[in-house]
Amino acid sequence: MRPEKNNNSEATLQLIRGTIVKKTKPYNDIDLNSWKDYDHIETGTLWTFSERAKGNGHKFDYHGNYIPQIAEQLYSRYTRPGDIVLDLFLGSGTSAIEAVHMKRRCIGVEIKPELIEKVEEKLQDFDNDNLTRLICQDSTSERACEQVHLALDELGEEKAQFLVLHPPYADIIRFSNKKKDLSNCTSTEEFLEKFKNVAQNGYDCLENGRYAALIIGDKYSKGELVPLGFYCMQKMNEVGFKTKSIIVKNITGNEIGKGRASNLWRYRALAGGFYIFKHEYVMIFEKSKK
Ligand SMILES: C[S@@+](CC[C@H](N)C(=O)[O-])C[C@H]1O[C@@H](n2cnc3c(N)ncnc32)[C@H](O)[C@@H]1O
Repeated sequence: MRPEKNNNSEATLQLIRGTIVKKTKPYNDIDLNSWKDYDHIETGTLWTFSERAKGNGHKFDYHGNYIPQIAEQLYSRYTRPGDIVLDLFLGSGTSAIEAVHMKRRCIGVEIKPELIEKVEEKLQDFDNDNLTRLICQDSTSERACEQVHLALDELGEEKAQFLVLHPPYADIIRFSNKKKDLSNCTSTEEFLEKFKNVAQNGYDCLENGRYAALIIGDKYSKGELVPLGFYCMQKMNEVGFKTKSIIVKNITGNEIGKGRASNLWRYRALAGGFYIFKHEYVMIFEKSKK
């Protein structure tokens, strides 16, 4: 399924019948000999997308889903065809849908059973090669890690090759009334403790030398900014990930309500001495080779 494994840490020259055809890294299939041909792949830390990509199975049908362009960019940089993407907060399945389109595989974990059913339904239309495995579980639990390993086993792999974490931004959107849902934590400390458990599970299920992405925004509480992004980055570091990049991405396309509500926020900002969030973070981490 996956192309031949390439464990060299340095850029590698692949030789076919004596001709140098490709110079790639072990974690993607970007041909560095033709690096000028990859204009569509972001290399800067500021991402602005004018609108959410639609079609191909992607819908804005879940408040809190990320735009497919994030998955597309990340998979292009950090995965090869056939690689397994592990998403421990699957939601409405953007990571899985984009994985299938880009011929990657995906294991997704989500706490809400109705979402798992919905994503399975969506995938039925185009996952003809059975590239996805969906698990209904609390991602903070040891059981989640065990189930991911069973799915990896079924797919013939020991570990995943890329990790996506798009947790609730604490209690900004309540996703369910389940106690284990991270959006139901009663304090930032509890949220971060649970997030760390998920990060640890992700770390344990990821191949050495591979990458992880955390998509997260900050929040305001009681007139004060709570920098969830930086707090979560610290938790990622504590479980062993090395921070590689912090990308700032505009959040156009994430908002459902506009118009009157945005005017109200403008008034509140002017009156309250703060600025309205227009960005979220895409943070990139590496699990070292050792
Ligand atoms: C921000 S959304 C992810 C959206 C997703 N990236 C998409 O594009 O649809 C966070 C998701 O995490 C789920 N969640 C919250 N706590 C969880 C937990 N302990 N284990 C697994 N999933 C959880 C929520 O139900 C919600 O669907």
